Amino acid sequence: MRSQRPAVAVVGATGAAGGTLVRILGERSFPASTLDLYASARSAGRRVSTHLGDVEVRALSGDALRGADIVFFAAGAGTSRRHAPAVAEAGGIAVDKSSAYRMDPAVPLVVPEVNPETLREHRGIVANPNCVAIPLSIVLAPLHRAYGVRHVTAATYQAATGAGLGLAEELETQTRDDAAGTPPTARVYPHVLHGNVVPGGWTMMGADTEEEVKVIAETRRVLGAPDLRMSVTTVRVPVSVGHSAAVWVDLDAAADPDGVRALLGKSAGIVVVDDPATQRYPMPRSVAGSDDVQVGRIRRDTGRENGIALFFSADNLRKGAATNAVQVAELLLRDG
Ligand SMILES: NC(=O)c1ccc[n+]([C@@H]2O[C@H](COP(=O)([O-])OP(=O)(O)OC[C@H]3O[C@@H](n4cnc5c(N)ncnc54)[C@H](OP(=O)(O)O)[C@@H]3O)[C@@H](O)[C@H]2O)c1
Repeated sequence: MRSQRPAVAVVGATGAAGGTLVRILGERSFPASTLDLYASARSAGRRVSTHLGDVEVRALSGDALRGADIVFFAAGAGTSRRHAPAVAEAGGIAVDKSSAYRMDPAVPLVVPEVNPETLREHRGIVANPNCVAIPLSIVLAPLHRAYGVRHVTAATYQAATGAGLGLAEELETQTRDDAAGTPPTARVYPHVLHGNVVPGGWTMMGADTEEEVKVIAETRRVLGAPDLRMSVTTVRVPVSVGHSAAVWVDLDAAADPDGVRALLGKSAGIVVVDDPATQRYPMPRSVAGSDDVQVGRIRRDTGRENGIALFFSADNLRKGAATNAVQVAELLLRDG
């Protein structure tokens, strides 16, 4: 990092992940000397309030990012592919939230609680995993270290904002339409999400959704466990913010649920919320707005040998996206 008071830019600053990132830079008093905000031409001229004052959003074009020390990309894979290499060539660092570089062996894929050491290998671009792979690897890493993880099954419950502001707004409209007795319509997603559960909406890769393929590949990469066997089904639910998953883990060694609770309770990034008798367990509503991965419903999976079942929720816009990226930038500053 060439400056301890870096010139920072956010690409996609008007979106769900980028907008959250701008807020989190302020919350964490990120020591930016300047903060430039970019989006598509549609948003040019909009003003966004930041910790360095109101900033006018500019349309991203040409070599606008050349002077920046850190550029956060949250505008889709195509935009990252077009502009991140130029940032790196000019001596800056691109911290990418998109899927563009996640499986590129020359680019570290970093979750600060799990594999911060991989950040040292960066050559000007750092990738962040997707919004399920981040909390899933945070939960699996301590289990893998302590007991060895042999197989993972996960079924997700993913919020509308995970697909961007467009679906979040569509869900709000559908909720109002249903309340008013007007038939809701779907334009952004293939089905009406309100009052529904949709096991699709992502591009298909053979019989799997692209999301399922990403969650498996990225979790393996973050854990450094390329052969880990995983079975994942991704599902969109009518929740605004907060991705959850039911997870079944087969361990190499027997683990007692109390031991797992204690282990996860002292692991970075995790808060155990687990007293189902008093109705305390992770839920998107209780985790929205926080940076923790909440884990609960920890119990023996009696159907499997050395099996543990659990449930987690995490804010997809914060720890699943923006907070992870800002933590990466903080590590880059700390380690020079
Ligand atoms: N949402 C999440 O939970 C989440 C989690 C992890 C990763 N991500 C990743 O973050 C990225 C953004 O997702 P999102 O959910 O925030 O989407 P979004 O709400 O639809 O926002 C997209 C942002 O990108 C901007 N944009 C679109 N085309 C652009 C272009 N050609 N040049 C510059 N800016 C452009 C948009 O600007 P306008 O407002 O002008 O259209 C907007 O600011 C994606 O790569 C996604 O995979 C999202």
